[in-house]
Amino acid sequence: MDLVNIFMNLAAPPFTFFAMLLFLPPWTFFKFCLRILRTVFSEDVSGKVVLITGASSGIGEHLAYEYASRGARLALSARREDLLRRVADRCLQIGSPDVIVIRTDVSDAHDCKRTVDQTVHHFKRLDHLVNNAGISQVCMLEEADEITNLRPVMDINFWGSVYTTKFAAPHLRNCGGRIIVLSSSASWIPLPRMSLYNASKAALVQFYETMRVEFGSDVKITIVTPGFIESELTQGKFLSHEGKMVVDHVTRDMQVNLSPVGKVETTARAIVKQALRGERYVTEPSWMKMSYVWKVLWPEAVEWVNRLMCMTTIGGESRHDTVGKRIMDMVGGRGILYPASIQSSEIKSD
Ligand SMILES: NC(=O)c1ccc[n+]([C@@H]2O[C@H](COP(=O)([O-])OP(=O)(O)OC[C@H]3O[C@@H](n4cnc5c(N)ncnc54)[C@H](OP(=O)(O)O)[C@@H]3O)[C@@H](O)[C@H]2O)c1
Repeated sequence: MDLVNIFMNLAAPPFTFFAMLLFLPPWTFFKFCLRILRTVFSEDVSGKVVLITGASSGIGEHLAYEYASRGARLALSARREDLLRRVADRCLQIGSPDVIVIRTDVSDAHDCKRTVDQTVHHFKRLDHLVNNAGISQVCMLEEADEITNLRPVMDINFWGSVYTTKFAAPHLRNCGGRIIVLSSSASWIPLPRMSLYNASKAALVQFYETMRVEFGSDVKITIVTPGFIESELTQGKFLSHEGKMVVDHVTRDMQVNLSPVGKVETTARAIVKQALRGERYVTEPSWMKMSYVWKVLWPEAVEWVNRLMCMTTIGGESRHDTVGKRIMDMVGGRGILYPASIQSSEIKSD
């Protein structure tokens, strides 16, 4: 066995290099042609049934509007039912022929099953599942009062998507459907104080890449990895070190600091457009893809920049005086980089 591994150690690098040299250029050309075809013949979702989790605010809410404007029939789920009804009313106004609202806590497997069952019972089919519901934690591992209080991050972000996918899978297979999953560029960027969030988003990527292999061509999957986008999350709503949901602008500024925060309407439009074109991955804004290149080729530089901008403090006593936040305060970056909606502390409630 050792001899085989010694042989593989010697043979795998040159084999990989020459295989890439030979196959990658024609494959890239083939994908380019396919992309042009898909742009012309992108999926028409008019009359199709789409279940969106976390549709009461932020990206999920605007994905609902995008699908509605294309004439899709919608099942909207989240915990704040009144907000969902408002989103549903707007969806009906802008073109959806039928919208139902389902109160769901995605961290509960029974709730996820009931949501899928209710959708299929009402519409008799399910074409797209958008796994969007998510929360974030912002606290360092060592600051957490009681580590188990942070379990909801994994329960909602990861398990919520897994449960819903499990129950939706047979219906999606029947319709040759699509799953859109909201991961994050945090799945590769090691942003401090968000270790569990980052891990939950990385877990989603690996889970859905494996599901692609299991589903084959029966169910298509689009993995979305946005940068910072305006929503309640970037308003500073997250789980604190006490395990309580808080809205904290100062900590948000430490995390987001000099990153521009994208408009949610533009992002939702780009996600739906690219998913209907059959893209396997969508990163919005698209320049964030470059951070992946940095991460693969020079991970030490990515770690160093994150530590400098988000952890290193200057010119003050407070742990909040991080380099990134201080620069932003000095140049008045908030007004330029952050949309007005995330500068308010007001979170919509039921
Ligand atoms: N905004 C960003 O910068 C950004 C970047 C990358 C990825 N993402 C991802 O995008 C997705 C949407 O987030 P967002 O930015 O739009 O934030 P958001 O405005 O806070 O929306 C989160 C949604 O998830 C729902 N949700 C939370 N916990 C839930 C639970 N237990 N059961 C059911 N629904 C639940 C919320 O509804 P209720 O509270 O009514 O239940 C809400 O509709 C998340 O997965 C997030 O991680 C966001």
